[in-house]
Amino acid sequence: MSKSAVLAYHQRTKHTFKAFAKGPETLDWDDQPDPFRIFEGCPIFTLPPPGREPELSWQQFKSATCAPKAMTRDNLGLMLELSFGLSAWKEFGPDRWALRCNPSSGNLHPSEAYIISQHDEVLPVGVYHYQVYAHHLEQRATIETPTLPGEMYVALSSVHWREAWKYGERAFRYCQHDAGHALGALSYAASLLGWQVELVNEISDVQLASMLGLDKAEQFVKREEETPDWLCRIRYQTDDVLAGSVEQLFTALENAVWQGKAQSLKAYHMYHWKVIDEIAQVTHKPAGIKSPYNSLEGVDAIASHNANQQPLAALIRNRRSAQHFSRGAEPMPLARFKTMINATREYQRAPLNSWRWPPAIHLFLFIHKVEGLAPGLYCLPRSQHGLDVLKQKLDSAFLWQAEADVDGLYALHLNDLRNIAKSLSCYQAIASDSAFSLGMLAEFDAALDESVWHYRRLFWESGLVGQVLYLEAEAAGFRGTGIGCFFDDEVHKVLGIQDTSLQSLYHFTIGQPLQDDRVQSLPAYAHLTQS
Ligand SMILES: Cc1cc2nc3c(=O)[nH]c(=O)nc-3n(C[C@H](O)[C@H](O)[C@H](O)COP(=O)(O)O)c2cc1C
Repeated sequence: MSKSAVLAYHQRTKHTFKAFAKGPETLDWDDQPDPFRIFEGCPIFTLPPPGREPELSWQQFKSATCAPKAMTRDNLGLMLELSFGLSAWKEFGPDRWALRCNPSSGNLHPSEAYIISQHDEVLPVGVYHYQVYAHHLEQRATIETPTLPGEMYVALSSVHWREAWKYGERAFRYCQHDAGHALGALSYAASLLGWQVELVNEISDVQLASMLGLDKAEQFVKREEETPDWLCRIRYQTDDVLAGSVEQLFTALENAVWQGKAQSLKAYHMYHWKVIDEIAQVTHKPAGIKSPYNSLEGVDAIASHNANQQPLAALIRNRRSAQHFSRGAEPMPLARFKTMINATREYQRAPLNSWRWPPAIHLFLFIHKVEGLAPGLYCLPRSQHGLDVLKQKLDSAFLWQAEADVDGLYALHLNDLRNIAKSLSCYQAIASDSAFSLGMLAEFDAALDESVWHYRRLFWESGLVGQVLYLEAEAAGFRGTGIGCFFDDEVHKVLGIQDTSLQSLYHFTIGQPLQDDRVQSLPAYAHLTQS
């Protein structure tokens, strides 16, 4: 029953050549939900001023493990800033909008981040909401004593309404992409401090909602509630082993004292997309998931290096989505292409080492302008199993010609496919004017047959891979953009997919960006020093 409900949601939120998935007929920009959540009535805990520039370069990050830094309020604040904080303000005519270190579909930012502290010297034991605009923590709950002394956790939730306001029924998918990007962003920021992010798989959504106080309906404006996404343990010592279970933390938090109330997002909710509430309910992560997969098992590490000496922090703060690409740019050097593509299979390095499941997302690429590769459709399975499934399910007429120069890449069909790439991605020129664009095919049925909550997991994985591509593109001197708008079944037709064993969940594009000089860029946190 519930798998059919997921399939029904997935089907009805597909864009087709004939019609887009159901969304608002008109957009009232004055009704845009506030992207910054504030809990009033909570004690505030300050973080050190944003903008610190740790030394670690991209090359060092890629070639060695950074010695772990101490868990301090300063370092915790830096990690939060580089994961979810502001990266710049943009101004065009009368419009002004903030960008963040993590990307978001439509820049709507449904995600909210929380800290659960069990480390009294850093933050009194309790639950904290990260207030992005002010870059400080709002203490939502206190607990008397730590249950897992010294531990530090980061959690994420989504306000679906922020995304649904603009994108209607398809918005649930975008919230899941964003959660995957946010996991990647957190993992990169943590590794800058020599810390590692461990996704806690064992906690159910009901438990996580309770741990973050999201189940206290009276503390949220109706329809502006938050839905729990993920919980991560921050490993900040090389030899640390969890002395207990996260379930104990859940039990301890049942006795927490809660304070504060979420301010209204100042939206008047002209539409209500019921189907989003329904799919969120159906895909709730259940209790009792006991055997987390160790991401280091069974997959070969593929090392890719890039000699970029820029500080990792600068690359994170400068990451942007390209709005336009230069059609006349020189072909992308093959070495750069290889580095980016290989990074999507570096399972033992941040951010992919935060992942707890075997790779279930595989890439198909429209290569337009890459040195040494003929233009055409290519495939990069991210595991041996993926290769077997794809060979069985994709169009039997495909070439499957192994590319000698790029390990694991197969040419499927050689031709200039720029028009097709553009048409499939909702006619967006960013998919055709780049050096290459790609789609992410999920092993869909198999994941849902295991548990329907994996619907969300598959989108998270695609967002995580997207975050790898964003940072790799930036480090290689190029720029990427996530593409959530594409015509699902038209993509499947091009690939010869005839059932739901494989589904394309996300697209991405990388090339030489064109700068729009009319858009002014302003510093991220100038408002903190001015006030
Ligand atoms: C899940 C997702 C889907 C996106 N889809 C599109 C898209 O279809 N077209 C596009 O131009 N940009 C798309 N973007 C890029 C966002 O618009 C961009 O991340 C946002 O405006 C914030 O800008 P920034 O990435 O420069 O911080 C997408 C981003 C994400 C994370």
